[in-house]
Amino acid sequence: MNSENLNKEFRRIFPEYALDSTMLEVRAPGRVNLIGEHTDYNDGFVFPMAIDRVTAMVLHRRSDHLIRLYSTAQQQMAEFSILGPVQKNPPAWSLYAKGVCEALRQKGHTGLGADILTDTDIPLGGGLSSSAAFEVAMALALLSAWGQTMPPVDMALACQWAEHHYAGTPCGIMDQFISAMAKAGHAMLLDCRDQSYRQIPLDDPKVCVVIVNSHVKHELVAGEYKNRRSQCQAAVAAMAATYPVVRALRDVTMPMLQEVQASMDPVVFQRARHVVGENQRAIDFAAALQKRDYAACGRLMYASHTSLRDDYAVSCPELDTLVDLSRSVSGVFGARMTGGGFGGCIVVLAKKEAVSPLQQVLEQEYPLRCGKKPGIFATAAGPGAHVVGS
Ligand code: GLA
Repeated sequence: MNSENLNKEFRRIFPEYALDSTMLEVRAPGRVNLIGEHTDYNDGFVFPMAIDRVTAMVLHRRSDHLIRLYSTAQQQMAEFSILGPVQKNPPAWSLYAKGVCEALRQKGHTGLGADILTDTDIPLGGGLSSSAAFEVAMALALLSAWGQTMPPVDMALACQWAEHHYAGTPCGIMDQFISAMAKAGHAMLLDCRDQSYRQIPLDDPKVCVVIVNSHVKHELVAGEYKNRRSQCQAAVAAMAATYPVVRALRDVTMPMLQEVQASMDPVVFQRARHVVGENQRAIDFAAALQKRDYAACGRLMYASHTSLRDDYAVSCPELDTLVDLSRSVSGVFGARMTGGGFGGCIVVLAKKEAVSPLQQVLEQEYPLRCGKKPGIFATAAGPGAHVVGS
C-alpha cells in the first residue's frame, strides 16, 4: 500500500483520529540471502540483500501505555500493555511485536503506547523474512514515536531476542541485521561473529535478481532448524577435542574437518561440511560480485544449493525442481534455495534478457512437475528500515 492508502486504512480502523492528525510511517524490508545459508548461527559469513518489498507501519501515539496493533494481513487487532513485562498472549502473530516491546523495555527504551496499522507485501512464511521485517518495523516505529534512537546493530539484536524469546525460533542474526542495516543498490557481506560488514554494489542494470516462490510453506523448518543447530554444536564439540581453539564451525577448515571425520557421526560430518564449504562460498561470492564476475557467482550458487540439498538436507523436491528448471535457461548465471529451507523461495541471478524466458519456462514446467504455480518477481536491492519522509 502506498502512504496515502495506508493513512486511509489507519483512519478506517481507528476512526477517532482527526483528519489533520499527523501520523508517523516506517518501513522495513524483507530480505533475500544470495549465499551463506545456515552459517549465521555458526559465527560465519552471510551475503543477503534487502528486497524492494516491505512491512509498513503507520502509527499515532496514545496517552496511556496501551498498544493497539492492527494487521491488514491477519485482519485482526492485538491489544496489549507495555507497562511492565509484556505478556506472551495470543494471537501468535502478535508475539513478534510483543517480544520487540519487551526487548526494548529491557534495554531501557520505554514510552507511551500507540495505535498502529501494519501492512506488508512480503509473502508470509515464504522465506523472505517477513517476521524480521515486522520486528524491525515495530522497533523503529516505537523508537521514533518516543523520539529515541538506538544503534541499528542493537536494534537488530533486540529483534533477534524477540524472535528467540517470544516467537520461540532460535534464528541467527542475518534477517534482522539486513532489514535494519541494508543500503539500496548493495548486498551485504556480514561477519556474524563480530557483526562487521561490507556493502558491495549490486546495481548493474544488465543483471537481475529474481525470486521464485515455490508456494510450499516451510512448516517443517521450526523443528528441523533446532535440530541442525544441535548437529552443528555436536560438530564443534568433536572438533574441539582435537582443536581446542574451535569455538564455532567458523573456525574450522576443510582439512581440519577431514582429519577429525573418523571420530564424528557421519550425519554430523555432512552438516559440518556444508557449513565449512558455505562460509568459503559466501566470501568467494562477495569477491566475484565485486569484480562483476557473474558466471563465478552463479557457479557458487549452484554449489551452495547442492550442498544444502545433499549435506545439510534442508531442500525439498519443489525447490530442487525450480533450481533445475532455472539452470536450463540460457542467460541464467545461478540459482539456489534461499532462507531456512523446506519450502519458501529460490533466488536466481540472471542476465536481464533472461528474465522473461525464465518466467515462461517456470510458469509452464513447474505446475506440470509439482502441481503448483510459482510466484516470480525480480527485485532490486532496497534500502534498510527507515522513517518515511525523514
Ligand atoms: C532463517 C534464519 C536465519 C538463517 C537462515 C538460514 O532465515 O532466520 O537466521 O539461519 O534461516 O541461513
